[in-house]
Amino acid sequence: MSESLIIIGAGGHGRVALDIAKKIGNFHEILFLDDAEIMDKGITVVGKVSDYPQYVKSHIFFVAIGNNFTRRKIQTELRVNGAKIISLVHPDAVICEDVQMSDGCIVMAGTVINTGSTIGDGVIINTGSTIDHDCIIGNYVHISIGAHLAGSVEIGDCTFVCAGVTVINNIRICEECTIGAGAVVVDDILTKGLYIGMPAKYREKNESL
Ligand SMILES: CC(C)(COP(=O)(O)OP(=O)(O)OC[C@H]1O[C@@H](n2cnc3c(N)ncnc32)[C@H](O)[C@@H]1OP(=O)(O)O)[C@@H](O)C(=O)NCCC(=O)NCCS
Repeated sequence: MSESLIIIGAGGHGRVALDIAKKIGNFHEILFLDDAEIMDKGITVVGKVSDYPQYVKSHIFFVAIGNNFTRRKIQTELRVNGAKIISLVHPDAVICEDVQMSDGCIVMAGTVINTGSTIGDGVIINTGSTIDHDCIIGNYVHISIGAHLAGSVEIGDCTFVCAGVTVINNIRICEECTIGAGAVVVDDILTKGLYIGMPAKYREKNESL
């Protein structure tokens, strides 16, 4: 059935979500809400984020906000107020049939999610990243472009695995970490914070992300 979609967030991430929604092809109307003035003529911004209640009965929602904590806040508020939130999966993502995925996730082009893995609420699986077998990805995690998780990796809520990170098999990374671009994680990370390098080492408290 054709539905009307509201995408919250009209930045670059929102436009990738739009492209995926168009490719899925189920939506007869795709509108944006964003607090910033968006000049891009390719998209239709109909109001601010706080305008969402007027669309709750007529539209379904996707939250296209890159910041994990902001995405969690908005998605939680939407849900509490009765909004239906969907996931968007690019047709060129390869997802094993037994993978379990919650709502509000986006899975981008060129990704692979292998057998036995579970993906939490509001997760971003960004372009060209891979998640191998039996991984557990928490809520509001971002697996950024070209990052690779080997088998049986566990990632805690709101952790940001940046571009090009590699995590070897059987590793646990706790919640609210940032793993800097290009890092290689070879030991469990059990304390929140920022980790960079090869092998990844703690750098400083992660206040801003
Ligand atoms: C790790 C990261 C979050 C740190 O950001 P930051 O705290 O603003 O760090 P800064 O840019 O101030 O750099 C601080 C120092 O760390 C170094 N550094 C930064 N990122 C690094 C990384 N990924 N690996 C190794 N060193 C890094 C900088 O060279 C700098 O070194 P210096 O003090 O010797 O000059 C950021 O650099 C990063 O990797 N971002 C990737 C974001 C991403 O993947 N985006 C994709 C979205 S799809």
